[in-house]
This record gives sequence, structure tokens and C-alpha cells, in this order.
Amino acid sequence: MPRPPRGLPRPPRRSAATAAAPGRRLLLSAPIFYANGPPHIGHLYSALLADALHRHRGLRAAGPSRLSTGTDEHGLKIQQAAAAAQTSPPELCERVSGLFRQAFTRAAVSFTDFIRTSEPRHQRSVRHFWGALRDGGALYKGCYEGWYCTAEECFLPESQLAERTDAQGRPCKVSVESGHQVHWTKEENYMFRLSAFRDPLRWWLRDNPGAICPEPFYRRVLSWLQDELPDLSVSRERRRLQWGIPVPGDPTQTVYVWVDALVNYLSAVGYPETHGEWWPAAHHVVGKDILKFHAVYWPALLLAAGLAPPERILVHSHWTVRGQKMSKSLGNVTGALGCMEQHTPDGLRYFLLRQGVPERDGNYYDEKVAKVVNSELADALGGLLNRSTAPSINPSNTYPRFSASCFPKVVGHGETRGVGRARAEDYALVAAVAALPLHVAECFESFQIYKALESIDLCVRQSNSFFQRHAPWKLNRKEPSERLWLDTIVHVTLECLRVYGTLLQPVIPHTADKLLSRLAVRPEERGLADVTFLPRYDGKPCPFEGRQLGPDTGLLFRRLEKSSPCQVEKL
Ligand code: MSP
Repeated sequence: MPRPPRGLPRPPRRSAATAAAPGRRLLLSAPIFYANGPPHIGHLYSALLADALHRHRGLRAAGPSRLSTGTDEHGLKIQQAAAAAQTSPPELCERVSGLFRQAFTRAAVSFTDFIRTSEPRHQRSVRHFWGALRDGGALYKGCYEGWYCTAEECFLPESQLAERTDAQGRPCKVSVESGHQVHWTKEENYMFRLSAFRDPLRWWLRDNPGAICPEPFYRRVLSWLQDELPDLSVSRERRRLQWGIPVPGDPTQTVYVWVDALVNYLSAVGYPETHGEWWPAAHHVVGKDILKFHAVYWPALLLAAGLAPPERILVHSHWTVRGQKMSKSLGNVTGALGCMEQHTPDGLRYFLLRQGVPERDGNYYDEKVAKVVNSELADALGGLLNRSTAPSINPSNTYPRFSASCFPKVVGHGETRGVGRARAEDYALVAAVAALPLHVAECFESFQIYKALESIDLCVRQSNSFFQRHAPWKLNRKEPSERLWLDTIVHVTLECLRVYGTLLQPVIPHTADKLLSRLAVRPEERGLADVTFLPRYDGKPCPFEGRQLGPDTGLLFRRLEKSSPCQVEKL
């Protein structure tokens, strides 16, 4: 007769103040990726979201942070993929893990930890974690039977199955979610008392409404928790699954691949020795398909092992390609490496983060990448830099002076001190750009990076209109009053560009670096604390005024060609 686990812990309530406290440590994570095929743009998107958050946090100097990712190398799925590729699981994993590492490095994903579940350090963590579950009374041995989906590596209830016919025309059952065939499986397994954790999970979510973001996914998890939670099978018979970590003390069983995989977040912070320095300050970025594993199973497993649930789970939707789900059979799997070759790493980063809305599936096609990136990065942003640094406008190649008499400060009720040359639209631009860093920070905090990019793009367009409106190329630099105004126009424009360059670093690191270097913004001046826009407008000194600009190293972002669709790399 199953025993309930000893003393259910009450999950901690966290205040927003604790989460934002300066100097605190934070573990950001991307998932670990199945080592059964090369990385595609969907995988890259998961990693880029986590990377952009990690980089933005770095700009805020908010305290030490780590970014973990890696490869998920055990399980039937990998065992079968290796057999199909006529290789061994270790060889397949070595190759695929290398491709993920290569793609993430090429994409400038700033990971600090790359966990392979086949590594001894991780296996040690899993064994320890298993021991904690066992010692806490959360495991029992039971006979389990049900429909198993190898692609999703889990048992599925009848409600998630549909009737189909297989390739030979025989009736079969498939998973509604993934479309993959399921097989009836009966075996003796270790079971985890998930059923006992329904209330603790509900308390956790009730006390921490920001724990799962965006909100529709939070509600989805709450709705799952309205139903009974069946206990979870957490091992497989070793004779069926050899490619995995043996259950400690029972060599006839292999640890379930999802328990193995989830523990990677603890391995990354040195479990069972040093994890206390980081855990539970962890934010997991995950796709919607793996939400249940992260928002139900993982917190329950942690509670059972005497640890707190992660602080936040940030959920995103999926990319389709030309309106269709990516699949090997359709031949439309869009490889991450090939795509970066075609659109450049920053081009692809910008597109995925600008167009990816976490609540909704996004639709990828190459022409759209070229259109968005050419219009926003090459033309609008690159064009603005090009025009405002042109030798004809700025022959001395310096950060020119701002004149408060040309652009007097608004002192209330729209009144200005003195009669300047700036117009109402120019004041609107200054207000919009001054508010941008905080707005962008709020967008990152609420996991709406696409909104941050939309706002930056709007400001870039406003700056272009400002430049166009005042046509500085028509002003006579030999005439002192004209010269003051010309320099002020260029100063304001460069200040705008400095803000955009600073704020775009988490999204397009190479391009932002090029932009800031051209503006002679030193590496130690690129954080959010230094971004204060147009200090001269507020009567404060501007450290850049009069500084020699950096060398002209050519176009900020070269327009992308429209070329043939990218294919996935061959294994
Ligand atoms: N190995 C598990 C995760 C274990 S984490 C402890 C896994 N791997 S995966 O390779 O299938 O997927 C990894 C990530 O890629 C998931 O966040 C998943 O949502 C994401 N994507 C896979 N296909 C995707 C799209 N088409 N679009 C966007 N993201 C998608 O699940």
C-alpha cells in the first residue's frame, strides 16, 4: 500500500522585492536539447530568449548570473535514433551535442554551463537526487501499464490519444499533441507520489502568481491541477532501456529520462554541494510542449527532494515554417546553422526575438526575415548611423556639441526657456527616447522582448524623421548660428543611437558593438547605468561631447539577399 511522503513542505512565497534585490544571484536556463537531430530554429529560439534575458541582466549589473543549456542524451528516443543512424548512442550524442554547441556559439548564446546528461558530474547529481526522493518516502515500486509515446518520452491518458492508421494501413493510436504513434507498455517501475503534491503545487502557484509567465500558461497549469494527478512512473526496465542512468541500488531499472533531464538545472549549480548558493533563484525558459514537465513534475520532484520550486518558468510558443509544423517527413526542418549562414547570426537573432510572441505560434519564412531585418536594421538603424556620421555632415568626425539655446528645455505647460529651433515633434522624440530604457527593462522583466524591440524600432523611425525634418545637410556650417543648430541635430541623433545601441546589445550583440564602437562608447560605458539620454538637455555634462568618433568600419548591417530556403544540416 503506497505511503504518503513524509511531511509535505509548504512552498515558499516570494515577494517581487526579493526577486529584484540588487546583487542577488540568478540561474537562467534554456532547456537541454534532445541529441537525436541537429539544431533547428525552434531550438535556437528557446536558447535566444534565455540568452537575451541573461545579457540584459548583465547590462543592469543586477548581480552574478549563469546561463545553462546543454544536451539531453538518454532515453529510448536517442537509443532508437542511434539505431536508425547505424551508430551507437554515445557516438550520436557526441556528434549532435557538438552541433548544438557549435550553433549556440555561432549565435553568440552566452551560456556559462553546457550540461551533457551523459557527463559523470550530472549522473552524480541524478543519483543523489534519486536518493533524496527515496529517503523522503516519495517513491514506491508498482506495476505500470499504459500507452507510451517514445517521441514525447511519457505515458499518455486515453484523452490525449487519437485513432489513425500506420504506414501499413493497420489501425493504431497516436498522441494528439505530437501525432506520434504510441505503444502499449506494461512493466514494473518505480512510481513517484505525484498525487500527493497537488495541494502543495496549488499553494505554490496561488502564492506566486508570477511563477509562470505569460499569464495564459499560468492559468493552463492551474487548470491541470484541478484534476487528480496520477502518480508518475519514474523508471524503465533496464532490459528495454539500457541508454540511461541506472537506478541507484537497483540495476534492473533505468532512471526515467525526464527526471534525469530536469536535474540538469541542479547539476549546473553544483548539486549536491554548492547549489544552495543559487537555488531556488532559477528562471527556466521552456517551450509550451514541455510546460507540464517543468511546472508540475519538476516543482513536485523538488519539493519531494526537500528543495523549493524554481522562481519562474518563462514559456514560449512554437515556430512553424510557412504555416506548417517542422517535420522530417515534410522536409521543412529549418536548420539553425544554415539559417545563420544565410541571414547572419544577428539577422536571425533579431528576426526571431522581434517576431516571436511567447503567447502565440510564429510563422517563419525566409523572405520575411529579409524584409524585417532589411527594413529595421539595415535601412532604419544603419541608415540613421550612416547619415548622422557622414563626413559632409560631421567633417571633424567628433561627437558634436549640444546647444541649449537651439533646443531649450521644456519647463512646464509646454513652455520653453528661450526660443529655440526644436519643434513639438522633437520634444516628443526626446521624451520617448528618455523613457525607452525603463520601458525596455519592463518588457524584459515581463518576458515580452518582442515589445521592447517594437518600441526601439518606433524610436529609430522617430529619430529618422527628426533628422529628415531638419535636413542638416542644408544648413551652412560657416554661419555660427546655423552651425550650432546643425551640431545640435547631430548630437541628439548620436545620443539616440547610443541609447539604441546600448539597449540592443542583448539582442544583436555584434551589430550593437559595431554601433557603439563607431560612437566611441567605451566598453565600460555600455551598461544601463550609463545610458542616461541627452544629459545636456537637463543641463548636465555629457561625457561624449567633443570626443573623437570611432573609425568608420563600413555599413552597420549589410542588406540580406533573398535566396533559397535553408535546410537542416545532415547528421
Ligand atoms: N530534452 C527536452 C527538454 C528537457 S529540459 C529539462 C526537449 N528537447 S527538445 O529538443 O525537443 O526541445 C527543446 C526546446 O526546443 C523546447 O523548449 C521546445 O519547446 C523547443 N522547440 C522545439 N521545437 C520548437 C519549435 N518549432 N518552435 C519553438 N520552439 C521549439 O524537449
